[in-house]
Amino acid sequence: MRRTLVFIPKRCYSPLPVDPLARFKTISQTSKAPKVLITGSLGQLGRGLNSVYKYMYGAECVTMSDIVKVPSDAHDVSSANYQFLDILNQSAIEEAVVNRNIDTIVHFSALLSAVGEQNVPLALQVNCRGVENVLQVAMRHKLKVFIPSTIGAFGPTTPRDDTPDLTIQVPTTIYGVSKVYAERLGEYYNHRFGVDFRSLRFPGIISATKPGGGTTDYAIQIFYDALEKGSHTCYLRPDTSLPMMYDTDCMASVVQFLSADNSQLKRRVYNVTGFSFTPEQIAGAIRKVMPNFQIDYKICETRQAIADSWPRSLDDSGARNDWGWNPEYGLDETVQVMFALLQREIAQKKGEGGEKQVTTA
Ligand SMILES: NC(=O)c1ccc[n+]([C@@H]2O[C@H](COP(=O)([O-])OP(=O)(O)OC[C@H]3O[C@@H](n4cnc5c(N)ncnc54)[C@H](O)[C@@H]3O)[C@@H](O)[C@H]2O)c1
Repeated sequence: MRRTLVFIPKRCYSPLPVDPLARFKTISQTSKAPKVLITGSLGQLGRGLNSVYKYMYGAECVTMSDIVKVPSDAHDVSSANYQFLDILNQSAIEEAVVNRNIDTIVHFSALLSAVGEQNVPLALQVNCRGVENVLQVAMRHKLKVFIPSTIGAFGPTTPRDDTPDLTIQVPTTIYGVSKVYAERLGEYYNHRFGVDFRSLRFPGIISATKPGGGTTDYAIQIFYDALEKGSHTCYLRPDTSLPMMYDTDCMASVVQFLSADNSQLKRRVYNVTGFSFTPEQIAGAIRKVMPNFQIDYKICETRQAIADSWPRSLDDSGARNDWGWNPEYGLDETVQVMFALLQREIAQKKGEGGEKQVTTA
């Protein structure tokens, strides 16, 4: 088999200017430890949130759950705090809440945009019935419940630049339709039954974990491809601008929002964002540290149509003003941290930690 030389960025990265954990320390010092159940916790976002909560309050404060087996390399997940939980089974959710004395559910189980289009009945089950089950249990046991929404909850008739919190929401994907349903149903359970429902509309999240089938996945894959091949074939047009956010900012938005006092909240659903870029712009940011990086394009019509119906940028001034949301990572910082993390991951996988160049078969 041919061995391919992997492209290594020209410079080594110095630590980022911010202490990435300072925000979490501050929150943990000023708020009581929650007992959190994370559904769909083995997906892109769940493991990061588990680590953050463990760092803040200790391992006992989080129960992770999903319907898949824990991967063998997931050293951050212990069998003591992981359990099988199908969110289509309402009594199983209730059992977990009672047995583990849960006071907060972070409901991450979902079928994302590209995957949802391939299986509409399953998307309706997981994204709608799952939300209904979680809200019913939250109502019965007086829980705080966080259900993320998405830029996919907007549509082609929404103003696409600086999209505000309150605007037209007529999405054209089943993912978007189910997320608008989750937003409205959560608000209904809040005003009708007093459920402490909270939701943030996330942009595409960039993390060093494999994404779950969304339209913004290329913004993660591009880093893996850069390190493994020195090039990336993008399924979106070079000028497709979408809002994005780095993982640590995403985790900070969840824990900060959940720890905010109810009196600070003027709404139950807020936009949050980091920065917007096009494939061309992220390729340019990567070239600053890897000058030979190449990008070409093979457009996927399904994902392009979805991206063209989404906002180019989000207005998150409501979150900033009401509960102090303040992202710390821009595009260049994200590129730095992604390369640092993925280089370490690739080196660890190949048992070559510390080597300057990596080869793949
Ligand atoms: N990742 C992003 O860029 C992004 C952007 C906007 C919003 N969000 C939202 O954040 C949440 C988490 O996203 P993610 O990227 O981690 O998703 P993901 O696809 O990576 O993970 C979803 C998890 O849900 C689990 N799941 C599926 N069916 C289930 C069932 N019946 N019962 C229990 N679990 C089930 C899957 O096994 C998977 O581990 C989702 O609600 C998503 O809509 C994510």
